[in-house]
Amino acid sequence: MAPLATTDVDAAFTLSLPKIELHAHLTGSITPQCLHEVWTSLKLSSPDLLLEDPLELLSKDKAWNVTTFFPLFSSYIYTLCSTRESIIHSTNSVLQDFKDDGVVYLELRTTPRYSEGVSKEDYVGLVLECLDNFEGREAMPTYLILSIDRRNTASQAMEVVDLAIKYRERGVVGVDLCGDPSKGDVSIFKAAFTKAKQHGLKITLHFAEVPASSSELELETLLQFGPDRLGHVIHVPEEMMHEILRRRIGLELCISCNVQASLTEGGVGEHHFGWWKDRECSIALCTDDVGIFGSPLSNEYLLVAEHFGLSRKELVKLSGRAIECIFGGEEEKQRLGAILVRQEI
Ligand code: IMP
Ligand code: ZN
Repeated sequence: MAPLATTDVDAAFTLSLPKIELHAHLTGSITPQCLHEVWTSLKLSSPDLLLEDPLELLSKDKAWNVTTFFPLFSSYIYTLCSTRESIIHSTNSVLQDFKDDGVVYLELRTTPRYSEGVSKEDYVGLVLECLDNFEGREAMPTYLILSIDRRNTASQAMEVVDLAIKYRERGVVGVDLCGDPSKGDVSIFKAAFTKAKQHGLKITLHFAEVPASSSELELETLLQFGPDRLGHVIHVPEEMMHEILRRRIGLELCISCNVQASLTEGGVGEHHFGWWKDRECSIALCTDDVGIFGSPLSNEYLLVAEHFGLSRKELVKLSGRAIECIFGGEEEKQRLGAILVRQEI
């Protein structure tokens, strides 16, 4: 591993740095402690519950990979957080955690899902209600992105877009494509993303996460959806990287997620953030699933300072590079610009 670079940055500074989080999956952002609280109350009403305590399951020094990671949601966390109460409790907890970490603008994303007594639309409504009622909403305005899962059918994807359109006025700003990158044929989602765009929604896509989802055909198809932002951008041919720059597409870089899940090689210092950082583009450092990877956004900034030798001044500038690609509109951009100008170094 390369030695850490010299920097004047420490954890207190990156905590106080006003930060913009644009790629955070709601369910993946729930801490093991919060899941434990949900598990404890579920255990009280159903003592025979067979699910393992989240503090046990998620605190183990586990190396997640694409095979073990995605079932964690479908066969574990979704079962835990399926009632109205647990959805509300966990969403509030996620909002508070981001705020406590010094996030001043948040775009949360989530896949509409149903459980007993909660339809997909109810689920979206519940999450939006939490955003509305959150007492820290002025200090941390929060918008919602609805995710299409790669395993969805074309009509399920359209259902997500229709929900996004219906709830635009309540704070849904975009549509995402996520899920297990080894699954699905992305070309079936063209109509859904076209409709989203026609209705003024922004588009962000998980892009080139693993080699299996990085064929030239798949990446070209995804670029044809006209994304405003791309997440991960790992296995991208250099020529296409220049095309991304030319199109001024914003980048959501999730360093700890990539390193811990072995999506990239060589640790933080070798992360492709190093390629993009000196080019003219909008970059947002993001957590992806802080509940699982355990690295809050303040820590992502600390990591890049330590591994790429960035100073306090450069971190303030880096935080500001996310502004251009937020989905929340001009007023939010101005507010964020003003906050960062005031930031003391
Ligand atoms: P939710 O959408 O709020 O339920 O958050 C969990 C979901 O986000 C998972 O089921 C995945 O589909 C998706 N997700 C979380 N992390 C990743 C990732 O790194 N790549 C692709 N999809 C992800
Ligand atoms: Zn993601």
